[in-house]
Amino acid sequence: MDIVIVGNGKIGHAIAEGLRRARPSWPVRILGRSDDCAPAGEADVVLLCVKPLQVRAALASLAPALKHDSTLVSVAAKTTLAFLRELLPQGVGVVRAMPNLPVSELVGMTALACESDATGIACAETIFAAMGRTVRVEERLMDAATAMNGCGPAYAYVIVEAWIDAGIKLGFSYETSRTLVAQTLLGAAASVLASDEHPAALKTAVTTPAGCTIEGLMQLEDGRIRSTIVRAIIAAAKA
Ligand SMILES: NC(=O)c1ccc[n+]([C@@H]2O[C@H](COP(=O)([O-])OP(=O)(O)OC[C@H]3O[C@@H](n4cnc5c(N)ncnc54)[C@H](OP(=O)(O)O)[C@@H]3O)[C@@H](O)[C@H]2O)c1
Repeated sequence: MDIVIVGNGKIGHAIAEGLRRARPSWPVRILGRSDDCAPAGEADVVLLCVKPLQVRAALASLAPALKHDSTLVSVAAKTTLAFLRELLPQGVGVVRAMPNLPVSELVGMTALACESDATGIACAETIFAAMGRTVRVEERLMDAATAMNGCGPAYAYVIVEAWIDAGIKLGFSYETSRTLVAQTLLGAAASVLASDEHPAALKTAVTTPAGCTIEGLMQLEDGRIRSTIVRAIIAAAKA
């Protein structure tokens, strides 16, 4: 599969890095603004990784060059399939993807949506599944996916930062605290993915009666952590 990434910014670079690690044999080229877009005309899949307001201009030069049986996968937030379809030649498949930056570490999470005839969705799934997990969603849920997994790493980093600070306050070095926190979160996430149990049941297993976990949980509840997280993600989805 010949892949061209258009847009050498944060997510374009992360996808290029992820594919280089996961599938070193795949030919992947990344094009910046000043590069000739001719390689996009030879690609089976073009990943459009520009800002939403840059999509129209990028496609004005790219679209005429695309192979008629190729697929354009756009990661631009808020940019609908209908809008993209208008700018593309007949025969070119179109898919929306909402990945996140950990694709570079092969632990990305990507939501995918496509038109009803579904041309190209299997290619998009193959590409993003090589760098983590994928889910197919209805297009109406793509803004929600942006808030859930696209923006999600930023929410996790705020929690990680505060948690590391707690470790430092308790006497650990920054490096030790960072390892304690990041590996604990990785373990919790792995347990959620590996188990059919609801997170509430997993939490109960950690919570000894009259123990220290319940003391910490009570402080989190006093800080309204649940409603804060729910409201934050809903606000991001509506932004
Ligand atoms: N960052 C994330 O975590 C993330 C996650 C999921 C989805 N997204 C989506 O991904 C898109 C890009 O986000 P980003 O954070 O990667 O932004 P970014 O860092 O600003 O990257 C966009 C890149 O595209 C380049 N570009 C613009 N027009 C171009 C053209 N015609 N040909 C080639 N390159 C062109 C820009 O160059 P200039 O700097 O010269 O303009 C810039 O390097 C957005 O639509 C966003 O919604 C981002």
